[in-house]
Amino acid sequence: MDLKKEVKRCRTFAVIAHPDAGKTTLTEKLLLFGGAIHVAGAVKSNKIRKTATSDFMEIERQRGISVATSVMGFEYNDLRINILDTPGHEDFAEDTYRTLSAVDSVIIVIDGAKGVEIQTRRLMEVCRMRKTPVIVFVNKLDRPGKDPFDLLDEIEIELKIGVRPLSWPIGEGFSLKGVYNLYEKKLNLFSGDVKSYVAEDMIAFDDISSSELEDYIGDYAGKLREDIDLLEGVYPAFDVHPYLEGDLAPVFFGSALNNFGVQELLNCFCQIAPYPCPCPTDVREVSPFEEKLTGFIFKIHANMDPNHRNRLAFLKICSGTFERNTPYYHVRLGKSLKFSSPNAFLADKRSIVDEAFPGDIVGLHDAGNFKIGDTLTEGEILRFKGIPNFSPELFRYVENADPMKSKQLAKGLDQLMDEGVAQLFISSLNGRKIVGTVGMLQFDVIQYRLEHEYGAKCKYEPINLYKACWIESTNKAQMDDFKKRKHTQMATDKHGRDVFLADSPYSLQMAQEKFPDIKFYFTSEF
Ligand code: G4P
Repeated sequence: MDLKKEVKRCRTFAVIAHPDAGKTTLTEKLLLFGGAIHVAGAVKSNKIRKTATSDFMEIERQRGISVATSVMGFEYNDLRINILDTPGHEDFAEDTYRTLSAVDSVIIVIDGAKGVEIQTRRLMEVCRMRKTPVIVFVNKLDRPGKDPFDLLDEIEIELKIGVRPLSWPIGEGFSLKGVYNLYEKKLNLFSGDVKSYVAEDMIAFDDISSSELEDYIGDYAGKLREDIDLLEGVYPAFDVHPYLEGDLAPVFFGSALNNFGVQELLNCFCQIAPYPCPCPTDVREVSPFEEKLTGFIFKIHANMDPNHRNRLAFLKICSGTFERNTPYYHVRLGKSLKFSSPNAFLADKRSIVDEAFPGDIVGLHDAGNFKIGDTLTEGEILRFKGIPNFSPELFRYVENADPMKSKQLAKGLDQLMDEGVAQLFISSLNGRKIVGTVGMLQFDVIQYRLEHEYGAKCKYEPINLYKACWIESTNKAQMDDFKKRKHTQMATDKHGRDVFLADSPYSLQMAQEKFPDIKFYFTSEF
């Protein structure tokens, strides 16, 4: 197998969006156009709706679905495409952030009527941090929405990224006529019927000043010419380099539900999206073309069968060829591990795979060896960077509710934290355990899973905290002074690192001002 060729034909990306913008619909349509599925509706929504917060069966059901749709791989135009699914519910945003560490580009879906929403902004911050190339898909063009020029300004300002429209709507909402594809110079006319099959006939149309345009879109021709004139004046010609640097987002308009604008998006994606890029580690950058295998675990999924506590760890391959039944070195544990039944993901199915290449995701059955962020190599000691924990925003004391089951509780908490469900801190004041999460739902999930998978019971007690941040300083005297004065607000994380528990934005600001030599970090990787 030619490793170089396999690297170059791989595209691993995620579709991200604020809930309800159309991520699930677009993902499904990409699979449909990519030939990976043949009817719409085959991919289930992995959404846990807000109303389902107390419906644990729903959460369990969703966990099952999200294993199946975690990674969707397919071949298209001689490319190996992997779409990594991200949880739809904002309470699972941290899962999404971690998934973003395993992709080489993203497609951001924006609801054309709602514009940029809060979750879109947060996700974009993570992309910006990693300089991930971004394509924007403005969805729901079949509904009345914002003016496209206003939307572009909003995207530019709110997402802090340059934009370049590569398609342009003709008419809008109920009078949508189609889009003009500026990338391929083609007209794509909108027929308006919700289709579950693939049919997108584009008409080659180089010269929109030609009177033939009127034959297709009648009175809308004048407005289209005006719009294109204006945008060609405002936006420089599309250049792929700033896109690959993460500085410029090409923008497409369409309607995922109506299969409209999706083929154009996919075609352009295949042409411009990057193949696996070099990955930074603590010692050096790893090129995907290196012959020796390296990879990292970015996600762990507990098995659905509560009687067998084995789990599926998702390995992103960064270099070399992964082979079944070959020993690889688990850097953190310092031991060799072999995998007899690694899983590959095709469309919405899993199958055992004999070999896999950079950019691919392999599911490894795990009896507790892996934590998020773990690295596998052929012996080299290195750790991949860019899989941080984010400073949690919601906190509770966690207490044992069944004294007979304290061991089970400790083990359960430990494993759930390894999976990245939440973060655990130990208060320096009283030694109590504090669980920090990014969403309310996680507290319910932890309680439910502790009981059903580990036979342990926990209860929560409120704690008034605003943020947990990691602290570090080269000024030992100042650090010691800080820790002494703030003794009641200090804690340690799972790795024994110092964490400051700020109870308000004000106290955090005061601490930062009074102790200028101390660095306060909002992600665990610094
Ligand atoms: P998400 O994964 O980003 O949360 O969004 P999802 O795809 O589930 O879409 C959210 C809602 O928006 C769905 O409606 C979906 O049918 C609708 N939708 C997606 N794309 C378009 C589009 O291009 N035009 C219009 N008009 N609607 C679109 P729902 O009623 O919440 O769910 P469902 O009952 O249709 O599944």
